Amino acid sequence: MQTLAREDLAALLRWYVEQGLDETIGEEPVDRFALPPPAPVAVAAPLPQGAVARVAAAASAAPPAAMPRSASLTSLPTRAPVPLESPQLVADARTLAQNCSSVDELEAAIRAFEGCALKRTAKNTVFADGVAGAPVMVVGEAPGADEDRLGKPFVGVSGQLMDRMFDAIGMSRQRDLYITNIIFWRPPGNRTPTPAEQAICLAFTRRHIELARPKVLVLAGGTSAKAILDTTEGIMRLRGKWTAVQLDDGSTVPTLPTFHPAYLLRTPASKRQSWIDLLAVDMRLRELGVR
Ligand code: URA
Repeated sequence: MQTLAREDLAALLRWYVEQGLDETIGEEPVDRFALPPPAPVAVAAPLPQGAVARVAAAASAAPPAAMPRSASLTSLPTRAPVPLESPQLVADARTLAQNCSSVDELEAAIRAFEGCALKRTAKNTVFADGVAGAPVMVVGEAPGADEDRLGKPFVGVSGQLMDRMFDAIGMSRQRDLYITNIIFWRPPGNRTPTPAEQAICLAFTRRHIELARPKVLVLAGGTSAKAILDTTEGIMRLRGKWTAVQLDDGSTVPTLPTFHPAYLLRTPASKRQSWIDLLAVDMRLRELGVR
């Protein structure tokens, strides 16, 4: 076997980092471009509120060979409870959200809610776009400048890329998609939302998912995936792995974390992995008889 010179190895490592490969997750290389057999969503044991049901027990029909993709999530590190400056605001948001019995009521409650400081600097509340009740619900991070201006999620360049990607599997926000974010107001300068802002909005977002009842949930990007899956694990490890998110009403939804379209704009080489994720969503919907 040909051996690489030290400088070549260093150049290769730099190239990996530029492509976003910044952590080692195994001793042996894995061909992630080879499509795996469809992985069934495992039945998850109930977990405390705010936690995701990580795949613990296989669904009765789950062939063992298909399990590793989701089973690997069993060992995800959970997030330690963050001391929040105002736990009362999170409790208020949760109570308000639980009292809503439709997506319209939830939207009205969020628009009237004054407990998240981000609302004071934002132009608009950015609630959702697409069809409430559509088979696929996409949850991103937070509105950017374009979304804040227009009051709709994912309408800027990254949203346009997302639209083109779903279009490639024959899905559109006019018919098949329901799109939202974990945060409803633009953080100033697009900074990452604080744990308190995330916890407040997440109370609404979890109820949003319950009320919209998607067949499949897609988490766009690390912030959304970490928040909904309640983990410290990064998107590099999470993406492409199905898990069953358990909601507070006891229902579960098959969930797939994937790269954020803004990351794909910066790192086009990763589009191949996102394409695999989209095909997995398509396949899952077909298994569920939705397509
Ligand atoms: N990025 C997001 O995560 N959400 C949007 O709505 C826009 C950009």
